[in-house]
Amino acid sequence: MKNFTHALIERNVVILGVLTLLTVAIGGLVQIIPLFLVETTIERVQGIRPYTPLELMGRNIYVREGCYLCHSQMVRPFRDEAERYGHYSLAAESMYDHPFQWGSKRTGPDLARVGGKYSDDWQAAHLRSPRELVPASIMPPYAFLDRPLDAAEITAHLRAQRAVGVPYTDAMIAEAARDLATQANPEADAAGFNARYPRARQALFDANPRAVTEMDALVAYLQMLGTLVRFSDVTPEQLRQP
Ligand code: HEC
Repeated sequence: MKNFTHALIERNVVILGVLTLLTVAIGGLVQIIPLFLVETTIERVQGIRPYTPLELMGRNIYVREGCYLCHSQMVRPFRDEAERYGHYSLAAESMYDHPFQWGSKRTGPDLARVGGKYSDDWQAAHLRSPRELVPASIMPPYAFLDRPLDAAEITAHLRAQRAVGVPYTDAMIAEAARDLATQANPEADAAGFNARYPRARQALFDANPRAVTEMDALVAYLQMLGTLVRFSDVTPEQLRQP
């Protein structure tokens, strides 16, 4: 009986096709249905917040200049990577990236944890002229980023991000232009800004107090990369300590 069924299925292409389709459909449903039932497929992690307006403009410049062609932003969970760059990247760390910047090529080093690795001055000087700081560097110079930042459309940028799921509030959108200026000026009153973007840093990122430049935006963005999650709170090493 068993042999007979087997022979029938193998020799009749219509029955074989229908049964194959059925099997694949069941497999597909088992994979797909749970995705509709869970609230989110990305585990929420404390500390993750949307980009500040200045960081978002910096990120736009990063995309515009094609930095992703030479730099990845994803530390993979391998020991050599973790020792070189730091804790491997979490899905939540790029949950507000539209489009994501994981990249696929590392002509230069991974940048997912570059925030805080160097001073603001180092970052700006390196972007202006990489070979002055790293003589063997093949990174192109970006000195032209010292021009004023055109942030006229910052509100539209936040709205666009919200349309694809980034939880910018009405207040964040209304205050976007002011928040951008506040972050680039350490003297500005930052009460509202700090409440909207916890732990975002105010600074003269390019050391030039006269104008908010593209350099300010890009350095602000680089300096926050990988700094939102405090891994000291969550690593097993920390948990093992008395
Ligand atoms: C042609 C490839 C290339 C492009 C394009 C490029 N870089 Fe680089 N980048 C490198 C290389 C190679 C290094 C390593 C040598 C050095 O530090 O200059 C590097 C280093 C860096 C570093 C220091 C990283 C570290 O951990 O030491 C930063 C930050 C950086 N790049 C940012 C950028 C940004 C921002 C852009 C876009 C505006 C960019 N790069 C575009 C190749 C590139």
